[in-house]
Amino acid sequence: ASSSTLVKNSTNHNAIHQPVTQRSILLSSTNNYLSNPLVTRLCRATSTHSIWNETALPDKIKTLDEYKAIYALSIKDPNRFWKMAAECLDWYQFPTKIKNTEFDYRTSRGVDIKWYEDGIINVCYNCLDRHIHHDHSIAQQVALIFEPDTPTESRHHITYAELLRDVKKFANVLKKHGVKKGDRVTLYMPMVIEACVAMLACARIGAVHSVIFGGFSPNNIAERISGCDSTVIITTDFGVRGGKSSPLKTKIDQALALKQCSNVKTVLVFERNHGMTELKDDCSHLRKTLEWTDGRDFWVHKEMETVNDKCEPERMNAEDPLFILYTSGSTGTPKGIVHTTGGYLTYTSLTFKYSFDYNPGDVYMCTADIGWITGHSYVVYGPLANRATTVIFEGIPTYPDVSRYWNIIDKHEVNIFYTAPTAIRSLMQHDDAYVTKTNRQSLRILGSVGEPINPEAWKWYHSVVGDNRCPIIDTWWQTETGGIMISPIPNAWELEPGSATFPFFGIQTQLFDQTTKKPLKPPNHGELCIADSWPGQARSLYRNHERFVDVYFKTYPGYYFTGDGCEIKPNGYHWITGRVDDVLVISGHNIGTAEVEAALEEHTSVTEAAVVGYPDPKKNQGMYCFVTLKGNVKPSEELRKELIRSVRDSIGAHVYPDVIHFTSNLPKTRSGKIMRRILRKIVEPDTSNLGDTSTLNDPTIVEELIKNSPRTK
Ligand code: WT7
Repeated sequence: ASSSTLVKNSTNHNAIHQPVTQRSILLSSTNNYLSNPLVTRLCRATSTHSIWNETALPDKIKTLDEYKAIYALSIKDPNRFWKMAAECLDWYQFPTKIKNTEFDYRTSRGVDIKWYEDGIINVCYNCLDRHIHHDHSIAQQVALIFEPDTPTESRHHITYAELLRDVKKFANVLKKHGVKKGDRVTLYMPMVIEACVAMLACARIGAVHSVIFGGFSPNNIAERISGCDSTVIITTDFGVRGGKSSPLKTKIDQALALKQCSNVKTVLVFERNHGMTELKDDCSHLRKTLEWTDGRDFWVHKEMETVNDKCEPERMNAEDPLFILYTSGSTGTPKGIVHTTGGYLTYTSLTFKYSFDYNPGDVYMCTADIGWITGHSYVVYGPLANRATTVIFEGIPTYPDVSRYWNIIDKHEVNIFYTAPTAIRSLMQHDDAYVTKTNRQSLRILGSVGEPINPEAWKWYHSVVGDNRCPIIDTWWQTETGGIMISPIPNAWELEPGSATFPFFGIQTQLFDQTTKKPLKPPNHGELCIADSWPGQARSLYRNHERFVDVYFKTYPGYYFTGDGCEIKPNGYHWITGRVDDVLVISGHNIGTAEVEAALEEHTSVTEAAVVGYPDPKKNQGMYCFVTLKGNVKPSEELRKELIRSVRDSIGAHVYPDVIHFTSNLPKTRSGKIMRRILRKIVEPDTSNLGDTSTLNDPTIVEELIKNSPRTK
């Protein structure tokens, strides 16, 4: 079948809809979340007249009242709301079933999440072909602007037509190497256009991509390759960041030498920026040093010469997996988060459109690496589904100097800029002149993601970077949520520095008391849960649904547990206060303390390690490691350095302990469980109220730790 059979769904919305009023909400409040005062407050449209026509979603959300009216509908009638959202995409078969979800593990069905389950769609088609199909002139619109690590290297623009051609060809290369619908393909790539090509090519043929962050070490790579049984790897020969090249292909070779990866049959290697002219650092001298396994390793540019550029998109069921993305948990091995097709694209597409107020012609830039969910949802899928022009930046914010982001904004006339608080905090250390000497007049909207943004950084971002002109869109969400969950909508309501403000359409936040596990009525502070499903959420962990249920649905039955603390103020504004579990968020990277502990404990001198975070103004959290040593081993500076190196080698260069605290013992319960609560208090440091220490095996250890901690000195 040809793609021209794709229809834009045009359902009749002839029914007369009542305006959404407080009354209609309260009358229908059979669901418990509707009796939540916050929800009713948000649902209370001030006008009794409908302020939008209710037959299709508006292009823009302009006022708080408009938001409230649509929010109310999205909660009252999720089927209708999410049907309208899905109508923004092209389907081979528009779904007749919209929402079919169960959050309560105690039911006979158990936790089970399905959206648009009988819909047939292709993500790649919607990101590329669709735009050209509906308007031929779009073929010539720039899809991606490549900004290389070294600013003087030639810049490279790729149009929608060119991107589509490359994606089709590379999809044929994958097919030639036996990749079929449902197969898992691992990507280990830097921030280059080819990474987007590879992801979209997988989506086109229905292969499930698993992107591994380029900073990860061979051990981590191996664990993630074998974790999803992928037999095909896509990489580049080198990555270049901050003027230094990193041998990605060699790291893949090292990972594949490990036993758990013996099933890998094919490694497809892109040449870094193949065909780009004027490359200063083209790695050609390094390329000569690459090892090559004939029959396994293939140069993509050579393979591309052997295939044609015709490739029909695969018809995918809305609930077919689109990708797996590994994220650190508080315990055990990394979790393979599974996102599916129809709901994910609907959600990322709609959140991108509203949260960033994207207008046709805008140039958008997100600094996140494609190895993280932000790169998936807001570098690749959300923007392309909205036919955006996106800057792909290969480098780092401090190279060649700390003006780099602002220079890029001027060079490409970026209108919407999305980055992380960690970058902002590192850049605000320097003289404001690095910012103010640049123009930045193109900027309209500034986004933030990854950690709570402290009011100081918020204000600097707003006044110095944005000249007090651009709203700061502080977006709270997670790998598991697929897309933005709590965020302002530009210029629709007042901002408060440090608050992500209100939940997105369809998202019902609910606070719980950590100790009593009882729901809390706002205003209050508690553990943040979400009361009902949304289309973008992860469906499971790869081949481990039980762990999915345990981690996210057991703490508060019937609710998705985020692992974050949150305060909801009397005005309904949400303030995320950070993780409540054993996950550290350091410079925007999500790090499971268990993984770090395992790395430390691998060292022959170490008996046991306990890792906790402490507040750090620059990195959000610092990493503090308590370590006990084997009987005859003496603490030394040498050992300290070795341990730091072990963590970096095992987890990646982006992760390192700030403090290694050697101790003779750790505070444990009589059942042998380390009391992290106490360790956290010690390093915070807040030793005034350590809580109940009576169940400790050896209560004197607490005094000793306080005495020797560099944080309490
Ligand atoms: C954790 C999720 C979402 C993409 C990047 C991180 C923290 C994220 C914010 C924000 C306060 C935030 C939370 C969350 N976080 N954004 N705007 N304000 N905290 O994805 O690696 O899955 O980490 O990052 O603690 O749970 P992730």
